Amino acid sequence: MLQADHVSLRLGATPILHDVSLTARSGQLTAIAGPNGSGKTTLLRALTGELAVEGAIAMCGLPVHPRHAMALAPRRGVLPQSARLAFPFTVIEVVRIGHGAGRFADRPDLPLRALDHVGLRHMASRTYQDLSGGEQQRVQLARVLAQIWEPACPDGPNWLFLDEPVSSLDIGHQLSVMRLARDFAARGGGVVAVMHDLNLTSMFADHVVMMQSGRVVAEGTPEAVITSETLSAVYGCDLAVSVPPSGNRPYILPQNARAG
Ligand SMILES: Nc1ncnc2c1ncn2[C@@H]1O[C@H](COP(=O)(O)OP(=O)(O)OP(=O)(O)O)[C@@H](O)[C@H]1O
Ligand SMILES: [Mg+2]
Repeated sequence: MLQADHVSLRLGATPILHDVSLTARSGQLTAIAGPNGSGKTTLLRALTGELAVEGAIAMCGLPVHPRHAMALAPRRGVLPQSARLAFPFTVIEVVRIGHGAGRFADRPDLPLRALDHVGLRHMASRTYQDLSGGEQQRVQLARVLAQIWEPACPDGPNWLFLDEPVSSLDIGHQLSVMRLARDFAARGGGVVAVMHDLNLTSMFADHVVMMQSGRVVAEGTPEAVITSETLSAVYGCDLAVSVPPSGNRPYILPQNARAG
């Protein structure tokens, strides 16, 4: 379990997170949603131990804080919102950076297998900078997978932290990456993903944390959080949420798309 209790955070003099509490469970995909600038990336960086906070964060009993980075590294992989590289690494070299930082460094097959998972084995020897934005995003996901690989280990679950993992992807790759994340959770791992696409969030998340202005304004199942009232209030636009009679997850349609 990943637990944040009364977390507040300033960057410089600016307060960014205000008294945030949340719970994410292994075996589940937890989505963090909310408007631009609402604090999702900052919260994710706090949950991974990259930023120090007021309040407490614990991951399966381990205190999460920058000073515990070495203890946390084998247990969690982080896909940042954007990842530029200063040097002309090949694709496989990028994936090996993650692999070498994890606890499966004795399994030399993993970097190529991770590239298989994102459909990019055939690009292993290409220069990373020459790839398209979506291809680079999938290489970064392979890097994270090669780092933590097994969702569940004898000493507890591993965790995937994904900041907008599908933001540059076409719909086919969006679905395959979300299925990959769901599968990681279904096999006992923990997944926390920052998401803008509310339909994908509804389809794939078990638990949704809705942020607004640095606070959690709603938390629960997709059915509880993804409602017309909550979304229209948080995003400040008219959004209709429908629930199909088959009992499937809610889906979202913007209203009056041509108005204004
Ligand atoms: N170093 C910083 N100093 C001051 N303010 C910052 C700093 N970094 C981020 N912020 C501000 O904190 C707020 C939250 O930023 P954050 O990146 O967490 O938002 P986000 O919800 O991830 O947004 P997006 O959907 O656009 O990625 C924003 O208003 C941002 O301008
Ligand atoms: Mg962000």
